[in-house]
Amino acid sequence: MERKWWKEAVVYQIYPRSFKDANGDGIGDIRGIISKLDYLKELGVDVVWLSPVYKSPNDDNGYDISDYREIMDEFGTMEDWEEMLEEMHKHGIKLVMDLVVNHTSDEHPWFVESRKSKDSPYRDYYIWRSGKDGKEPNNWESAFSGSAWEYDETTGEYYLHLFSKKQPDLNWENPKVRQEVYEMMKFWLDKGVDGFRMDVINMISKVPGLPDGEPQEGKKYASGSKYFMNGPRVHEFLQEMNREVLSKYDIMTVGETPGVTPAEGILYTDPDRHELNMVFQFEHVGLDSGSGGKWDIKPWSLADLKKTMTKWQKELEGKGWNSLYLNNHDQPRAVSRFGDDGKYRVESAKMLGTFLHMMQGTPYIYQGEELGMTNVRFPSIEDYRDIETLNMYKERVGEYGEDPQQVLEKIYYKGRDNARTPMQWDDSEHAGFTTGTPWIQVNPNYKEINAKAALEDPNSVFHYYRKLIQLRKKHDIIVYGTYDLILEDDPYIYAYTRTLGDEKLVVITNFSGKTPVFLLPEEITYTTKELLISNYEVSEEEDLREIRLQSWEARVYKIR
Ligand code: NOJ
Repeated sequence: MERKWWKEAVVYQIYPRSFKDANGDGIGDIRGIISKLDYLKELGVDVVWLSPVYKSPNDDNGYDISDYREIMDEFGTMEDWEEMLEEMHKHGIKLVMDLVVNHTSDEHPWFVESRKSKDSPYRDYYIWRSGKDGKEPNNWESAFSGSAWEYDETTGEYYLHLFSKKQPDLNWENPKVRQEVYEMMKFWLDKGVDGFRMDVINMISKVPGLPDGEPQEGKKYASGSKYFMNGPRVHEFLQEMNREVLSKYDIMTVGETPGVTPAEGILYTDPDRHELNMVFQFEHVGLDSGSGGKWDIKPWSLADLKKTMTKWQKELEGKGWNSLYLNNHDQPRAVSRFGDDGKYRVESAKMLGTFLHMMQGTPYIYQGEELGMTNVRFPSIEDYRDIETLNMYKERVGEYGEDPQQVLEKIYYKGRDNARTPMQWDDSEHAGFTTGTPWIQVNPNYKEINAKAALEDPNSVFHYYRKLIQLRKKHDIIVYGTYDLILEDDPYIYAYTRTLGDEKLVVITNFSGKTPVFLLPEEITYTTKELLISNYEVSEEEDLREIRLQSWEARVYKIR
């Protein structure tokens, strides 16, 4: 397998609005990030993926961009950004920027021009259609509730927005749009950025004719996803982008691709196809969603988690490359979702880190994950900020008449604001995030869970993550070894091996508060064993063939 720096790297995602506020306006900013680079250096990460910092009216916190070449006022200036990049590079950290080009803001000059008249040279930068029988052009639902179409009085047509109505979709069929995007990418690459995370990049090609989707039970609008996810020209567009831009730089690329299967994942990431380095798949974070989508919440099962992760590990092996994540700014906190955020918060956070970092692929850490930050339960919908959550609440409570408390329970479990409460730096007011009033409240558990306390405690989740990252630098097998699931049917234990040459890793993780017995399969033999990491004290003499595990225990052995 070909060695690549981005395979060996660990990525840390910063959601700038919630990371660190340096000027006291309650909103995280670039100078705040600069002030925390020593912290990231100590953690040991190699790359920062920075969620959007471009000019934006913030309908979707920066994922609605009104100028791709300017920095958002709240976050600072281009000079600040340049200083940040320089400081990151001095700290040995690379910078991956977010590329949001499925849509722009409706305040982007292209859209402002586009909506003025049907003859505007920018009309065809977006997807305009006339209505059908006095209704929207088709029945697609927006990811943020309601129709994916917005009527515009000026010209009497509708425009498509797969996300909020302030996020009109760009028309990638138009070669001028593609050239604009490529030029903009070069603008940032020439400033020295080290790669892109590409927002919903598998949605840029829509099926011609934009056919109606399948109606959804109990809902006004239909899911059109099969007509815009992995559409007919997406690979052609990405290959063009690769040819014209990506191939000219030594960078890393990761595509956000909801709804991809491993077969499609390979199409995006097979190096011979010259598209992307890796994709974010969504199957494992969809295990607690029913057929009604994200808010149709059902319990996830360990058996399904094993099946899903193993499928991705095995099917991409030698063909593509996995990204490894449990958290990001759109997902609830993993320790609340897959672990125990009460009594065993620390143990289960470490277990989840072990489970993920020992797989094949590039691991991503989302800010606060290294502290074991948890979900939040704000008492009122007024305390929430996320457009997805607010629109969903309005639709369900206001239009469908659902019980407000029940809808709040869904938000407590799945809402994106769980990930967006401010980073907990210390136990001072607002967790040291800001001296002002934070744009969203901090999680009340910050007195106990914060970076200062974690740095001082050698047994903290932070120091455990540090060790996970260091291990990756020392042991090639963690990056390049092949994965195999063992103990497939065990209801509590997720265990697997990694193999490289005559070495093996045995990764043992207990996904429960119970104390099950781990039995090493007989066909795995060894003459020497070394414990690489564990989240409880383990005696060197202990037999690896049979282990009574403690609650949420994790261990990794290297054997020969
Ligand atoms: C995916 C991003 O991660 C999410 O935060 C955003 O709302 C949508 N794409 C739309 O840009």
